[in-house]
Amino acid sequence: MPDPATDAISNLLHEERRFAPPADLAAHANVQAEAYDRAAADRLGFWAEQADRLDWGRRWDQVLDWTNPPFAKWFVGGTINAAYNCVDRHVAAGRGDKVAFHWVGEPADDTRTITYAELKDDVCRATNALIDLGVRKGDRVAIYMPMIPEVAVAMLACARLGAPHTVVFGGFSSEALASRLEDCGATFVITADGGYRRGSASALKPAVDEACVKTGDLVRHVLVVRRTGQDVAWHDGRDVWWHDAVGSASTEHTPEMHDSEHPLYVMYTSGTTGKPKGILHTTGGYLVGTSFTHWAVFDLKPDTDVYWCTADVGWVTGHSYMVYGPLANGVTQVMYEGTPDSPHKGRWWEIIQDYGVTIFYTAPTAIRTFMKWGRDLPDGFDMSSLRLLGSVGEPINPEAYMWYREVIGGNNCPIVDTWWQTETGQIMISPLPGVTHGKPGSAMKGLPGVVAQVVNDEGVPVGNGSGGYLVLREPWPAMLRTLWGDDERFKETYWSRWAGMYFAGDGAKLDEDGDIWLLGRVDDVMNVSGHRLSTTEIESALVSHPKVAEAAVVGANDEMTGQAPCAFVILRESAGDGGADIVADLRAHVAKEIGAIAKPRQIMIVPELPKTRSGKIMRRLLKDIAEHREVGDVTTLADSTVMDLIKAKEGTSSGEE
Ligand code: WTA
Repeated sequence: MPDPATDAISNLLHEERRFAPPADLAAHANVQAEAYDRAAADRLGFWAEQADRLDWGRRWDQVLDWTNPPFAKWFVGGTINAAYNCVDRHVAAGRGDKVAFHWVGEPADDTRTITYAELKDDVCRATNALIDLGVRKGDRVAIYMPMIPEVAVAMLACARLGAPHTVVFGGFSSEALASRLEDCGATFVITADGGYRRGSASALKPAVDEACVKTGDLVRHVLVVRRTGQDVAWHDGRDVWWHDAVGSASTEHTPEMHDSEHPLYVMYTSGTTGKPKGILHTTGGYLVGTSFTHWAVFDLKPDTDVYWCTADVGWVTGHSYMVYGPLANGVTQVMYEGTPDSPHKGRWWEIIQDYGVTIFYTAPTAIRTFMKWGRDLPDGFDMSSLRLLGSVGEPINPEAYMWYREVIGGNNCPIVDTWWQTETGQIMISPLPGVTHGKPGSAMKGLPGVVAQVVNDEGVPVGNGSGGYLVLREPWPAMLRTLWGDDERFKETYWSRWAGMYFAGDGAKLDEDGDIWLLGRVDDVMNVSGHRLSTTEIESALVSHPKVAEAAVVGANDEMTGQAPCAFVILRESAGDGGADIVADLRAHVAKEIGAIAKPRQIMIVPELPKTRSGKIMRRLLKDIAEHREVGDVTTLADSTVMDLIKAKEGTSSGEE
């Protein structure tokens, strides 16, 4: 349970650093203050109104079926096609020449511009190619790709067909990919030979090949985009080049309108157990939730805005706010393939200048990195086109908020600090531009139609000025429907702590005005650079190493990445001292099992772990060590001398980077 009396928060409140909504924005804001009351008075009517912004095949009979909680059905009886809504309808409305994506490759001058009409042709071609390969409605298709336009085309082709996709972040290892393929039974994979990152071509296809071996004969076809031209191993009969299959396919395809509750995608995310959870999102409600929030929270003016979300498509932000929300709203976007520092550290600001980006959505971790690099870099570019800034993925510290506001936004752009999760599918808590004050560090309050509360241990709402747990009280359209193949775990994980409440796993505090401040996870989930990692998942990876007997991982505070994994490892007797390279070996092993993002910042080889009499590891004490603090109360330890043994090791085998 985080300390609710966070000093930073009370200091800020005293300083009264809060920003009133600019009057000119308020006058033209898409959503006005009255929406909160309107939605509170008739929540389902409010969501039905938002659903009317989309094109349906058949209109729904019932907005919400909540007779069997926590299993929700939204827009029951309605039929809809997500790809049609994201692409075809804009072309049909005469906006085919509008740019959908300004795509910017990492190598300089490697750019493409794709209009909505071109995107429609590409999506239809890809759909026909998938059909030719044998993909049918309901089949699961894994997508493991770099940030190239084909990734959006692939997702939309799957959606069009009704074949749920599961996008696996390109930074995950072949092990991680294989376990996801297996869990959802994906029989097709769409990938690329590789992509560009940090100035050189990295490979993707070899990991797919390995995952195919690991999963036996599960995968029937692998569709491969040629991005870098590097050599790839080829499996005749299984592997197919994208340019052959898609390039030769017809641009004619009539979309089927799918049931509103038809599965759209599965996105794996880390939970408190070792095995990632397959979050299931369905079609109608998800599209309503993402398109409405994208339009409302970013105060989107689709005719004039140029929107850029820097997330990778391998995470939920890339799904909801790069593909489905923005495309359903018909806006022009920027998509960038590479890293912020390639070929130079001002690349992002150069892109904003070159494309006249008006709305920019990124993560606090990135902002902190730029702060470290200094304001000279952004100051060298003309970013006067910007009018709105967004933040997502982790709590934004007030210093980063102020820097973002001043240096990037020139003090002209409201900031929307958006709280949501893979599970929620859509933004849940955020200021509304033109309506809500901005307070550095607060996500403010639940959007219209969303009921977010902070409760105490008993599930009772806390008063203003108090802290507790964040819960959601009413179903919302883009909510997860279940965990793929595991209804029980879905109930148990999110709905069992207090009756009738969705528990998000985050601690939160209400300030004196009743506004919400997120205080980070209260479970075993870490937030590393805005990416979710589970301590248990990294522990499982470590103990799968032949030299490891036991491992405990904690998320330690980290100035740049928010949190960083720190591991305490007991070696097997047979391993002796593990050898000189043991720390490097273990870090490489975690990268192989999960992916480079999960590599512990620090690994300490220790003789014992602190445990209670019932055998539970006291992570709190390990966290004290990882954060270089005085160790807290050790009286509940079975053996209180253990901490002395561990402390004696501090600094001897850290492997800290
Ligand atoms: C955290 C990312 C504070 C939170 C969209 C949540 C945030 C987890 C914010 C979900 C924010 C996300 N302020 N914390 N604005 N946004 N989080 O599933 O702990 O990758 O539970 O979804 O990120 O991470 P996920």
